[in-house]
Amino acid sequence: MKLLKDKIAQEGKVLSENVLKVDTFLNHQIDPELMQAIGEEFATRYKDEGITKIVTIESSGIAPSMFAGLTLGVPVVFARKRKSLTLTDNLYTSKVHSFTKNETNDISISQNFLSSDDVVLIIDDFLANGQAVLGLLDIVEQANAKTAGVGIVIEKGFQTGGGIIRERGIRVDSLANIKSLANGKVEFFEEASTR
Ligand code: G4P
Repeated sequence: MKLLKDKIAQEGKVLSENVLKVDTFLNHQIDPELMQAIGEEFATRYKDEGITKIVTIESSGIAPSMFAGLTLGVPVVFARKRKSLTLTDNLYTSKVHSFTKNETNDISISQNFLSSDDVVLIIDDFLANGQAVLGLLDIVEQANAKTAGVGIVIEKGFQTGGGIIRERGIRVDSLANIKSLANGKVEFFEEASTR
């Protein structure tokens, strides 16, 4: 997606060979117009898949998911990473280990919001080692719902997550796929979306 790749090129800061900082439009300050364009792009790609629900994970997955949900006319459910005062029982839960942060979180979604009737589009901001997406896939499976695919804003294609998920036969659409962050430069793969 050219708009997104241009934004990354202009505003992204390469912090190391593994980490790209995009807090001017995605991870802290949020660019609503760009999020709308991203959400509409996911919606266009999945418009014929019978999606009934978007599933994401707090916090940075929520903004692009909202616009995809708005365009597709379906609700957005986000997995929580922390215990909620009101969300205590009847949960689907999964463990997500972050290699980046070296911590493991229980993520959860209420059983009220996901069922065997659902066809799910999973959306997240970054795909690195794939642990967050694997946790969401686990929750969708627990609900006996169907996953139509995974929409990712920025994939770091040089890390393992994309391969692990595609090897399972799951469709992954990344709107920007980064080949390398070496020498302080962002280099993209030519083909940003793969099935
Ligand atoms: P994984 O789920 O693909 O295995 O990712 P990993 O554990 O490596 O990443 C943990 C957190 O760090 C996730 O956000 C993920 O989106 C984010 N992340 C991973 N690589 C990068 C990167 O290069 N740049 C930025 N900006 N973020 C990265 P999170 O902790 O869930 O945060 P948030 O969604 O609440 O913002």
